[in-house]
Amino acid sequence: MKQLENKKTLYSGVQPSGNITIGNYIGAIRQFTLLSDQYNCLFCVVDLHALTVRQIPAELRRNTLELFALYIAAGLDPQKNIIYCQSHVPEHAELTWILNCFTYMGELSRMTQFKDKSARNQDNLNAGLFTYPVLMASDILLYQTSLVPVGEDQRQHLEITRDIAERFNNIYGNVFVVPEAYIPKETSKILSLSDPLRKMSKSEPDGAVFLLDNADDIRRKIRRAVTDSDAEIRIDIENKPGVSNLLQIYSAFSGESTDEAIGRFEGQGYGQLKKGVADAVIAGVEPIQKRYQELIADKGMLHQQMMNNAERARQIAARTLRKVYKKVGLYQG
Ligand code: TRP
Repeated sequence: MKQLENKKTLYSGVQPSGNITIGNYIGAIRQFTLLSDQYNCLFCVVDLHALTVRQIPAELRRNTLELFALYIAAGLDPQKNIIYCQSHVPEHAELTWILNCFTYMGELSRMTQFKDKSARNQDNLNAGLFTYPVLMASDILLYQTSLVPVGEDQRQHLEITRDIAERFNNIYGNVFVVPEAYIPKETSKILSLSDPLRKMSKSEPDGAVFLLDNADDIRRKIRRAVTDSDAEIRIDIENKPGVSNLLQIYSAFSGESTDEAIGRFEGQGYGQLKKGVADAVIAGVEPIQKRYQELIADKGMLHQQMMNNAERARQIAARTLRKVYKKVGLYQG
């Protein structure tokens, strides 16, 4: 507990919607392992958020356990960090109700993600989709979080989280730490192999390499990566986004700088470059996959770690929730 008092808290949440890409790994999970000494880190599998779109129950259950295992396989330590599942800590749902009463319809209607999702989900425009950001604010605020690493698309949700926290603090005193977004620089972004103007995303599987893809699939996807016709190997994001992206992927997995990578592949064809990139990615994901297979083979152990981490999260969350209940005047005996 001493640790908890002098380090700041970092919080991240990921939806259990299947497969993690090498872009998620490089841009997020691997960064977390580097930050995990400096901060108390919590990594949450946000299964309650996933329910805002219709799920197949068995798949949601499987994806939840798999994401938990993948976090650990990719290097996050369930002893040092807290890796847990949102629905195992009922305080998330409880704080959401309270914060719903401190969030305005108007501000929720302005959320671009809500506007996008409601345009795409006309047949299931549920209230959860509307209050999604309040649940996210609860995730973050329960743990007195200082830093939230997210993609650019979540910036607005961080802003509303800060607004809710400040609004509450203004009425009741300093109950919540007001968190900051931590949005890594553009340069660390891995782009789609089939459309290198867009981010690599699981919703576009042909352009994405997944952390659990086998070696053949990785080679095939990288071999088909979109490049250009001038055959020169250099970084030029604007005119040569595909080749630049391949060099960046190579560099991220090999540990060489992009300059070193250019030196290595200069004068060779794109075929050689792609082979080099595939080799580096395969070598990088192999130990993660091996560890993942070991973990997922022992579901009992994995389950136990999950329960144990949920208990640790709950101790922190319960403290904040108790304080909130008291402040707003709920009779607590
Ligand atoms: N909404 C986030 C996303 O789609 C996921 C998320 C839920 C989250 N709760 C969070 C991210 C808390 C950071 C902190 O990416």
